[in-house]
Amino acid sequence: MVTFELNGQIKSFHIDQGEFLIDTLRRHHVVSPRRGCDTTSCGVCTVLIDDQPMPSCALLTARVNDKKVTTVEGIADFAAELSAYFGKEGADQCGFCNPGIALSVYAMAQTEENIDDDTIRHYLVGHLCRCSGYVSQTKAIKAFLEGRK
Ligand code: FES
Ligand code: FES
Repeated sequence: MVTFELNGQIKSFHIDQGEFLIDTLRRHHVVSPRRGCDTTSCGVCTVLIDDQPMPSCALLTARVNDKKVTTVEGIADFAAELSAYFGKEGADQCGFCNPGIALSVYAMAQTEENIDDDTIRHYLVGHLCRCSGYVSQTKAIKAFLEGRK
């Protein structure tokens, strides 16, 4: 049994030995973390652990006992607002990478004070987007953060 805060609610789960967090979440209908590479390279399985982005495909569920886990379901308003900016900049194509990116942008917005292109690039490292490249996404993220001031 493992217990952690999931999107603001304390939850307990029976898990198998060696189970990864992505599998625990998806089995319990939290499906925004997706399985892509399964080797910590693509970012589509990203979750926040105590507000820091981590790949859930490589994180044993037992390791998050007593921690705070956030998926994009837990930042729905923030993600929807960001997504609207992605749409305006043409950064929204298939959308497969969006939940992971939204979580990293959320972490960045909570953590960093002066966000420039390098900061955005730093937080986008590890998020593979096969559709749009990163220029339109960077523009969208900047406009989004500007709009929140
Ligand atoms: S599936 Fe976890 S990083 Fe790609
Ligand atoms: S929009 Fe398709 S992978 Fe990023």
